[in-house]
Amino acid sequence: MSEEFYRIRRLPPYVIAEVNAMRAAARAGGEDIIDLGMGNPDLPPPDHVVEKLCEVAKKPDAHGYSQSKGIPGLRRAQAGYYGRRFGVDLDPESEVVVTMGSKEGLASLATAITAPGDVVLAPNPSYPIHTFGFIIAGATIRSVPTTPDEAYFESLDKAMYYTVPRPSVLVVNYPSNPTAETVDLAFYERLVGWAKANKVWIISDLAYSELYYDGKPTPSILQVKGAKDVAVEFTSLSKTYSMAGWRIGFAVGNRELIAAMTRVKSYLDYGAFTPVQAAACAALNGPQDIVDRNRELYHKRRDVMVESFARAGWDIPSPAASMFAWAPVPPALAHLGSLEFSKQLLTHAKVAVAPGVGYGENGEGYVRIAMVENEQRLRQAARNVKRYLQSMGVNQARASGNR
Ligand SMILES: Cc1ncc(COP(=O)(O)O)c(C=O)c1O
Repeated sequence: MSEEFYRIRRLPPYVIAEVNAMRAAARAGGEDIIDLGMGNPDLPPPDHVVEKLCEVAKKPDAHGYSQSKGIPGLRRAQAGYYGRRFGVDLDPESEVVVTMGSKEGLASLATAITAPGDVVLAPNPSYPIHTFGFIIAGATIRSVPTTPDEAYFESLDKAMYYTVPRPSVLVVNYPSNPTAETVDLAFYERLVGWAKANKVWIISDLAYSELYYDGKPTPSILQVKGAKDVAVEFTSLSKTYSMAGWRIGFAVGNRELIAAMTRVKSYLDYGAFTPVQAAACAALNGPQDIVDRNRELYHKRRDVMVESFARAGWDIPSPAASMFAWAPVPPALAHLGSLEFSKQLLTHAKVAVAPGVGYGENGEGYVRIAMVENEQRLRQAARNVKRYLQSMGVNQARASGNR
């Protein structure tokens, strides 16, 4: 009997898990770790959403299996969101499916559309499900950059020209996790044209649709005329309404892709708990002031983090969107690599971050910092980082206040 399971052999050890294990051990030992590692929102969901959950959970008939593709009211609520926010019309019956978090949705879609040996174009670095969802389904990944510039389109063309079999799917994620890069509508217009010309499906992950800071709302690929011919897009309630544990996300767009995914899901699950879906409707249909307030709060955190870390001697580019900063390892410590640097930050500064290499080889040289602690804790993190950098002989002059 072999224990060399085909899929397991394709899943490398999760690098980020090493830092997570160290963080857990440190906490178990009573240490106060400032956790900027995982993108797990620290804010509560809106009160009216929690109240709706409780109200529906008290109904005796709300406890059976739900609908795998999502209750009709929630699919309508998601179509309403796309109409309001992006001016995109969606048919809730055929162009919307509810998922148990967008992570599950991405994996189900990968299962639905991938044959062993298919080639998928995915960003490197990337949020792991963008590659491993397809690897689990038997695909081969060809990496493309995350930076949405001319070189990006050149690399897409090269990939089509040199890869056999020709890639059939392209994954895009803007605002990007982990790099926080953003795009404008013109980028999506060009991308949709490219995908049509090359007969490639586009899967867009828009998990950070509402976390943008420089006044320009993040676009949806579906705003491009004709995008539905080739694209689906995932969104999530996890970050927008701080409902990460509730596991509610969506895929919308191309009917064939939505139908394929819905079919696979119907074999795998019975949908999220009905009271959770009812409360998700309340989130999408109810007052939206929480979305603006959370955006402002993350914006403030971003400014505090960038400014206080710079004073500590670590220059971090200010992210225009998402809840992450993509921080180059300080040049004097670059030789450590992102994993060792993250471990040292945890041990000596009591600050947990995610090593960039955990998101793919092109993430080496960076760490991802999640803005999921309050301003006071971010300032404390910066003070701890400053002491650590000083102990390593980094930026002595700046860190001692000459700046
Ligand atoms: C880019 C991106 N996509 C998807 C997800 C997963 O979100 P969900 O909670 O909806 O599964 C995350 C979570 O951090 C993410 O960063």
